[in-house]
Amino acid sequence: MATQAGKPVKTHLPDEPSTLEIADRFYRALPSGCLVFLRGNLGAGKTTFVRGCLRAAGYQGKVKSPTFTLVEEYSLQNRPVYHFDLYRLTDPEELEWMGMRDYLRPDALCFIEWPERGEGVLPKADVEVVIDIEGSTRNLTIVAISSIGAKVMEAIK
Ligand SMILES: Nc1ncnc2c1ncn2[C@@H]1O[C@H](COP(=O)(O)OP(=O)(O)OP(=O)(O)O)[C@@H](O)[C@H]1O
Ligand SMILES: [Mg+2]
Repeated sequence: MATQAGKPVKTHLPDEPSTLEIADRFYRALPSGCLVFLRGNLGAGKTTFVRGCLRAAGYQGKVKSPTFTLVEEYSLQNRPVYHFDLYRLTDPEELEWMGMRDYLRPDALCFIEWPERGEGVLPKADVEVVIDIEGSTRNLTIVAISSIGAKVMEAIK
């Protein structure tokens, strides 16, 4: 994986297992509380990446895409994990009504697909995972936003 201090981590993901593998490494580098944004077009592999993280946490069940429910909750390794998919959010204000603030507490690990739908209400992420489609493969970029995110980047190098 090409890395440089402070620079985004970029890597090519030729197939789904490689997405799951990098997600496993990513999860192991996360501190207990962390806000992770996942960006990329429809079908880029955002949910696949979250599935890889949940598997790394020991979760063996089905990982549902929370497209209609907006959020799926897990309790893994004694910590709350929330997986959001905001694709269907029509107004960022809806996040206030659903009590987003409670989900974003410091001890929680939050994964948010389609964070652009919540812009204006969502705080900045600690780390962003960006997946670009390239034919039948993917390109992954991991960007540290906060100092927490920078530590995650250090750990996955
Ligand atoms: N590195 C990869 N190379 C090729 N295909 C991949 C890769 N990673 C994941 N995929 C495939 O991409 C497809 C879509 O994945 P996924 O549902 O995770 O996308 P998504 O970004 O969550 O989409 P949406 O925006 O609709 O929620 C799946 O069929 C998955 O197997
Ligand atoms: Mg998805």
